[in-house]
Amino acid sequence: MKQLTGWIIYNGSLKAEKFLDYAEWVQNAARRRRIETTLIKNSELVVTIENGKSTIKGRYEGLSPDFVLFADKDIRLAKQLEKLNIPLFNSAQSVENCDDKTLMYQVLADNQLPIPKTILAPLRFFPVEDEDAAYYHGMAEELGYPFIMKEAFGSFGQQVYYIDSFETFFQKVKQIGTTPFVIQQLIQSSYGKDIRLNVVGDRVVASMLRQSPSDFRANVSAGATMYPYEPTKEEIELAIKCSKVVGTDFAGIDLLFGENDERYVCEVNSNAHIQNIFDCTGINVADAIIEYIEGKLKR
Ligand SMILES: Nc1ncnc2c1ncn2[C@@H]1O[C@H](COP(=O)(O)OP(=O)(O)O)[C@@H](O)[C@H]1O
Ligand SMILES: [Mg+2]
Repeated sequence: MKQLTGWIIYNGSLKAEKFLDYAEWVQNAARRRRIETTLIKNSELVVTIENGKSTIKGRYEGLSPDFVLFADKDIRLAKQLEKLNIPLFNSAQSVENCDDKTLMYQVLADNQLPIPKTILAPLRFFPVEDEDAAYYHGMAEELGYPFIMKEAFGSFGQQVYYIDSFETFFQKVKQIGTTPFVIQQLIQSSYGKDIRLNVVGDRVVASMLRQSPSDFRANVSAGATMYPYEPTKEEIELAIKCSKVVGTDFAGIDLLFGENDERYVCEVNSNAHIQNIFDCTGINVADAIIEYIEGKLKR
């Protein structure tokens, strides 16, 4: 059987090592299964529409890998590649569903998955001013303080805020300008604590409990400690369902602990990093991802 070839696309504008690290991890996993891959920055592929046709120009023009592992969030590029009939993992639609948290919560809710009560901010063409305060007062009253505010686009807990008063809220709203955001019921029983489950296909391949000593956010980059975790049957089923409904082939699912031992979906990450979970559990999710892609393509 012919050897598979793949592209691993990552974002060229992100200078942090961890993005290239991720791409290299996946490349090494592919190499272990004798799959040759090329690491490509999104900015090296020139998305062109010419004579009414979608193409890719530049260095990689005319080449067609067997698959793309899309480790970027450049949704326009992802859609262009799909127009060229290149199988993408994850698909453009699923990356889009996860990238925008407002869209993600709508998709989860459409499928009756449990999320904390969430309110979407109205579209703003200009940053809010003092005269807009009444609307935001009303919005906050719908939840009561304290609550969680999240910018629609963000990771590592960096665009997630704990709001305990109107002053803090309104200042944040002003500060983020026209960025879309949601406010969300604080799951107090999960303060500083969540579980991360890595789903690949229809399996949970690794899980960990994350607990922060001081912060409400359980992101490892915000200082949380990781513990290996044995998920329950319910948690496994919930995580797999989340991945299915947003359409990801693989994902990192964050679950929160409700007061009566129920679980809430905090978020679905189509571009979950895999280094931390490896450090915690010794499980290399990249191996599972590559085996999954291979299985899909050879079928
Ligand atoms: N509604 C909530 N109640 C309690 N904690 C929350 C809530 N939403 C988020 N968190 C905490 O904040 C962290 C970051 O939020 P998340 O939505 O996962 O954003 P990010 O994409 O930045 O990781 C979560 O891991 C969780 O610990
Ligand atoms: Mg998260």
